[in-house]
Formats: sequence, C-alpha cells, structure tokens
Amino acid sequence: MENETFEIRRPVKICLCKGVTREQIIESIRRGNHSLEAIAKDTTASTGCGTCKRQVQKILEEELLLKK
Ligand code: FES
Repeated sequence: MENETFEIRRPVKICLCKGVTREQIIESIRRGNHSLEAIAKDTTASTGCGTCKRQVQKILEEELLLKK
C-alpha cells in the first residue's frame, strides 16, 4: 500500500450556471446533438449566462474531429 497513489477524479463542470459536466456534453454529442443549439436543448449547457458557449463549441469540434 505504500507508494500507492489514488487519483480522485471529479467531473469537470463546463457550464457552471447549469452544472453541466464535460462528460454530459460529450454524451450528448455522441447521441447525435451536433450543434450548440442541440446540445443546449439536450443538456441546458450554455442556457444561462452564456460564457461557456466557446468551451461547449470547442468540445463539439473536438468530438466531431474524432469521429472523422
Ligand atoms: S456558465 Fe454556462 S450558461 Fe453560464
């Protein structure tokens, strides 16, 4: 047990207003929501103050690139 490290992974919240995590956004994209509007409708991410829109867009672009 000595020298063993334990990593505690917390979900990364992208949208603080609505409490939406990166994983929830990725799952939404993988369910077929391929636009910012569709993700917002599905998860409520970016429907508050809107400051997370760029981050949501970036995750969307990364996920769509991975699919190619
Ligand atoms: S942080 Fe996402 S809407 Fe405010």
